[in-house]
Amino acid sequence: MSPVPARDAPPAPPPAPPQPSTTAAQEEERRRFQAVLASMAEGVLLLDGERRVTLVNPAASRLLGLPAQPLGRRLLEVSRLPALHELVERARAGEACEAELDAGPQRRLRARATPLEGSHEVSVVVHDVTELRRLEAIRKDFVANVSHELRTPISVIRANAETLLEGALEDAGLARGFVEALLRNAERLSALISDLLDISRIESGSHKLERRPLALAQAVRQVLDNMAQAAAARGQTLSSQVPEALWALGDEKALGQVLTNLLDNATKYTPDGGHIQVRAACQAGQVRLEVVDDGPGIEPQHRARVFERFYRVDQGRSRAMGGTGLGLSIVKNLIEALGGQVGIEPNQPAGSIFWVTLPEAPP
Ligand SMILES: Nc1ncnc2c1ncn2[C@@H]1O[C@H](COP(=O)(O)OP(=O)(O)O)[C@@H](O)[C@H]1O
Ligand SMILES: [Mg+2]
Repeated sequence: MSPVPARDAPPAPPPAPPQPSTTAAQEEERRRFQAVLASMAEGVLLLDGERRVTLVNPAASRLLGLPAQPLGRRLLEVSRLPALHELVERARAGEACEAELDAGPQRRLRARATPLEGSHEVSVVVHDVTELRRLEAIRKDFVANVSHELRTPISVIRANAETLLEGALEDAGLARGFVEALLRNAERLSALISDLLDISRIESGSHKLERRPLALAQAVRQVLDNMAQAAAARGQTLSSQVPEALWALGDEKALGQVLTNLLDNATKYTPDGGHIQVRAACQAGQVRLEVVDDGPGIEPQHRARVFERFYRVDQGRSRAMGGTGLGLSIVKNLIEALGGQVGIEPNQPAGSIFWVTLPEAPP
């Protein structure tokens, strides 16, 4: 008696279609080709004579935002980037060509399409140039900003010198005011250039930062001493609540520069009679230093941006006070180079808390 198959047994699989016979060597070749494609950061796409996708690697799917199963489908169905279609058409006409594609609000792609010889196929290679373009834009902005910042004091110097030469020099009472303006603007230029040099040194890595144990209370005292006179003249109180036992790992000169910039801002932007305090505490291997003021504070939409170069909440006010707009970007650069972080929080009921962290020095 022949055995009765169980009722819920799966149906027997259909016989396998005849496979094209591949040798082991061919199979190995194919596997390696796939592995290389999969490991590439560049997206690779192959289109046949009817613009159907015949090959695609994961990077192409990701960069171009292709649907899950693009193979066998027409390019027009899987991508809505007009510039990509245009590029493919140009390649089909016989010439290799390149173009930049806007793939969504935050992504710029560079694509190259090449007609494959002896067929109607076209290969497309794409790479992500978002970061490159972002950096280029920052650099252009920076150059434009620097030129503008330099031009302002230079125009003032020239105008004052001209006025003096045109006769104001003969009037001693008048001349003094013009010469003072000359001096103020020359000082502004020199502050700007010294900040720019600092930034370029930090960024080029030629500013070698040490990582030594630093006694924080002492470093804070030194900077506060330097500022005491200016603060007293404005009726401001400076105080420190930094435990003597707190040591951070960092560079003495850089820490001094960070504290000077933060305290300079705190005294500058806090009105007469205000209170400024430096606090520090240790948390999970990190020392957190805070400069707290009860000045005007910084609205949330400006908080992240004040660390950018030349960003000021109030251009006129910052310039009038001799600011370069670079102080906080120097602070951020230095602290990050030392392995720390920076940030701002609102103080209660008014004012700002600027904080930086540094690694704690092992005892
Ligand atoms: N303690 C503070 N209180 C209020 N605003 C501040 C304070 N510190 C910095 N700011 C704002 O951040 C901007 C950037 O500061 P900074 O980079 O030091 O440049 P600068 O002081 O030369 O203008 C300032 O122009 C100011 O608008
Ligand atoms: Mg400043």
